[in-house]
Amino acid sequence: MPAETLYKVFKFKIMKINRRNFIAKSILATAGTLISSKYTFAKEPLKLTGKKNKPVVIATWDHGFDANKVAWKILSKKGRALDAVEKGVMLTEADADNLTVGLGGLPDRDGYVTLDASIMDEKGNAGSVSFLQHIVHPISVARLVMEKTPHVMLSGEGALQFALANGFKKENLLTEKAKQKWKEWKKEAKYEPVINIENHDTIGMVAIDAHGNLSSACTTSGLAYKMHGRVGDSPIIGAGMYVDNEVGAAVATGMGELVMKTLGSFLIVEFMRNGLSPQQACEKAIERIKQKLPDYKNFQIGYLAINKSGETGAYSIQKGFNYAKYDKKGNRLIDADYLLK
Ligand code: GLY
Repeated sequence: MPAETLYKVFKFKIMKINRRNFIAKSILATAGTLISSKYTFAKEPLKLTGKKNKPVVIATWDHGFDANKVAWKILSKKGRALDAVEKGVMLTEADADNLTVGLGGLPDRDGYVTLDASIMDEKGNAGSVSFLQHIVHPISVARLVMEKTPHVMLSGEGALQFALANGFKKENLLTEKAKQKWKEWKKEAKYEPVINIENHDTIGMVAIDAHGNLSSACTTSGLAYKMHGRVGDSPIIGAGMYVDNEVGAAVATGMGELVMKTLGSFLIVEFMRNGLSPQQACEKAIERIKQKLPDYKNFQIGYLAINKSGETGAYSIQKGFNYAKYDKKGNRLIDADYLLK
């Protein structure tokens, strides 16, 4: 498919912001009222009245279930949330059968498996890698960027060189199964992401540990058959995931372009800072997509959030988004509520 046609498919028309509306809304916000009709911000933000539930870990999609088990081993021994989320998503990265994360991920339209990942700890430190090839565990490279460099994000060849210099092995990530699917796709090379299938992508995980500290991780091979060089929301701090240890944490999955345009995870944390529950915050972030991006009905976005009390929330545009939650009650898969009923 020619690049221009592909670009048209990607093109979303963002509604023009009406200047007068903007000013009116700013005045309202200053007066302590909220823009939306459905929820109002608490007068005194961040009153966490809920009973504390910790540790807790939540992760996107079916693959979150097994990833949670790994995370829980760490959390249940009073380990650090950062270690739990990194080790948890590593399980999915190494799963060759999983077509949307790490090893075995579907390639871009030119046949390259390119990976994005990010991680954030309780101190507000963040690290990410984008457009990384040949490394099974981009999340661990992201953690090293966070801990060993003065930077937040390394990309492409530079990220690969950094990984190799730090002992990671160069591997072929394109499995026979993914290669066959790509060859099949190439026969028509139609770019029509299928809701909840090709978009059934990222593993995003957020956790609160026994000490009450929050961390988050997300990792993906991105959109199947994307343009070579395309980077999604997952490595963008504040889009793919975000943590503020005083407030809460959030992660995103689905069509990254919509998340990037609305900085979804940061938005959710800010909504929680202003008094919304994790569930209300996720719903409002989806509502923001609806307000700003007219094509939203064609795509799936799912958000997960957790607050400082260990309360959790989840919401998506379409039916079909699920997540795994592990706390003292055990590990279970839960269907998220959604907008388009
Ligand atoms: N949410 C992952 C991506 O769009 O790449």
